[in-house]
Amino acid sequence: MSPKKIILAVTGSIAAYKSAFLTRLLIKEGFEVQVIMTGSAKDFVSPLTFSTLSKRPVHVDVSNESSWNNHVEMGLWADAMIIAPATANTIAKMANGICDNMVTATYLSAKCQVYIAPAMDLDMWKHPATIANLEKLKSYGHHIIPVGNGELASGLVGDGRMAEPEDIVNFISGNSANLPLAGKKALVTAGPTYEKIDPVRFIGNHSSGKMGVAIAMELAKQGATVDLVLGPSKIAVDYPGVHVTRVEAAAEMYEAADKYFKKCDVAVLAAAVADYKPKEQATQKIKKKDESLSITLEKTVDIAASLGKIKKKGQTIIGFALETNDEEANAMEKMKRKNFDMIVLNSLQDKGAGFNHDTNKVTIFTSKGQKLDFELKSKQEVAADVVTCYIELLRSK
Ligand code: PMT
Repeated sequence: MSPKKIILAVTGSIAAYKSAFLTRLLIKEGFEVQVIMTGSAKDFVSPLTFSTLSKRPVHVDVSNESSWNNHVEMGLWADAMIIAPATANTIAKMANGICDNMVTATYLSAKCQVYIAPAMDLDMWKHPATIANLEKLKSYGHHIIPVGNGELASGLVGDGRMAEPEDIVNFISGNSANLPLAGKKALVTAGPTYEKIDPVRFIGNHSSGKMGVAIAMELAKQGATVDLVLGPSKIAVDYPGVHVTRVEAAAEMYEAADKYFKKCDVAVLAAAVADYKPKEQATQKIKKKDESLSITLEKTVDIAASLGKIKKKGQTIIGFALETNDEEANAMEKMKRKNFDMIVLNSLQDKGAGFNHDTNKVTIFTSKGQKLDFELKSKQEVAADVVTCYIELLRSK
């Protein structure tokens, strides 16, 4: 059951401005919203903004000269408490039971569901202390609303942006039935593959998995249930609606992708799959003996082409093309040969595009002859563009 009475706790981050919009959205969705703030949140947005939007007085101090704001009563009144934005400081206090302001006092008194929408700079987000604090809060049964990736207040680009207000509302109200991809099943391949030479060596590539993981998250955000088949990648994926199968070699990726493809509506193939693998794998470490060593390679299975051959009516395949030259011609040839409905071209000629970066610059081609050029953007924004193109393709069918 979705909550009705909500405490929205705003803490001191530039993302506090988004919480004004979040208040409006929650009210529009029929929630009763009680806003509370930390003292430093007031430096970003005035309590008057929130009291005007929520039509309730906003509480900042536990007490003043003449009255006491009953945080215990408030904690009991609410069906849910959302801390948005939740700074690294407030997260640390919550994880350690520190109670020194209205937000932390109410949090410790709350018996309801707690949702945390973190907002911070990327290095703070990656710090082991923040990771450990969030793990602790998760172990209390609290929900962590995934952060976005993009430009941060510091000017750096990366993870740490507070989720968009619409996504927070969908997250807490389980509103996925209204989303454009509700009821759709998606398969995403991501990351590199490692083809073993011997027990210690392999043939691989520089793919980090970031692009494919961002696509899987965006599809889930738009309501799809996603099977993500992920090659060796350091990314820990923990996102509602995304089920991860970890694989290593192209053959394993094919096996998993083939299994999920049969039931999916859309497959997005962002993995950088090795095209060749050693014909034989040495069972023992190959010793250094001669001046040169030859390894015979054989073709791996082309996952995309195989899925393209068994694609049924109603299924969509979106492929990627990573090129270094003759980009458009190569991408078009791949789209045709592999029976894709769309292809996302990224070129290593473009600075900030392709492997490992947090950004990418793509051109999307459809089999119907459309060509859409995009600027350099965060991979999360690129994922949103790709998924929007898919949604438009569905609507045009
Ligand atoms: O993971 P990141 O570090 O974020 O980097 C992202 C990326 C650069 C890997 C991604 O944006 C990308 O371009 N992925 C496709 C890379 C690639 O292998 O492209 P390709 O042109 O060689 O392959 C064409 C298509 O066939 C791709 O959809 C690929 O997934 C698929 N393919 C290729 C070979 C093979 N054996 N099986 C396949 O399914």
